[in-house]
Amino acid sequence: MSLTRIVQGSMGLGVLLLSISSAFAAPIPPAATVCTSCHMPTGMGLPNMAPMIAGKNAEYLTRQIDLFIAGGRSDPLMTPMAGLISDPKKKAEAINYFASLSAPEIKNPEHRGDHAIIDDPARKLVYQGDWNRNIPACSTCHGASGIGVQDFPRLATQHPDYLEEQLKAWKNKTRSGDHNDVMGSIARQLTDTEITQLSQYFANVK
Ligand code: HEC
Ligand code: HEC
Repeated sequence: MSLTRIVQGSMGLGVLLLSISSAFAAPIPPAATVCTSCHMPTGMGLPNMAPMIAGKNAEYLTRQIDLFIAGGRSDPLMTPMAGLISDPKKKAEAINYFASLSAPEIKNPEHRGDHAIIDDPARKLVYQGDWNRNIPACSTCHGASGIGVQDFPRLATQHPDYLEEQLKAWKNKTRSGDHNDVMGSIARQLTDTEITQLSQYFANVK
């Protein structure tokens, strides 16, 4: 965790106070109020601070909270926050709020198979994978342009620093909890350059 994050975190609290009185139409339930200082009332998060969680599948989000509580995931900012909503009612209230928000619309999502010849190495991994290394195409699970399919989380328009950190966390075995180590075994095949390129690719999907 960087100092920037801590500083941005305290700035985020200011945003929180402003947002309570201002434009956001959907009422923020009490259990979700503390979350909005980093994930924002829109659930869009902040670069180098906290991921976008708007519109993600509630089951996926719930499991991630449980993983922070149980230790399969760990983060100096997020782990204590998960502890605040360990009560099932509070957890559901906070998660349902963020799951109900909408994420930016992707106008022309690209499907696996739309193009046979792909030169860009990151796009090739996204839509074709690399069978020599047992890497299935990311879009097989994460959907067209990475827009997410049920509890295969959305990657499109996510902050690139977050995507990169997660792939590296699986590579270094500091994130776990994915079924059958599916992401762990993929991430360990990726080079750090590919991780950066893939993170930029998904962050910039339009
Ligand atoms: C102080 C800042 C901060 C606050 C407040 C905060 N979070 Fe987070 N949250 C983070 C960070 C940072 C991460 C990324 C952690 C990592 O890298 O593993 C995160 C990750 C998450 C994730 C995982 C997202 C994913 O796509 O896997 C969920 C779910 C989440 N937060 C929900 C919440 C909820 C619900 C609350 C309120 C109870 C909350 N957060 C409050 C900083 C915060
Ligand atoms: C076989 C299915 C599958 C494939 C293929 C796949 N993923 Fe995943 N991915 C998952 C699942 C399942 C999760 C959620 C893991 C969990 O619940 O903890 C996930 C989570 C992620 C996350 C974390 C998202 C977040 O919000 O925290 C990233 C980043 C990611 N995948 C990137 C990729 C990339 C890049 C590729 C292609 C190189 C890829 N995935 C291919 C199944 C897959």
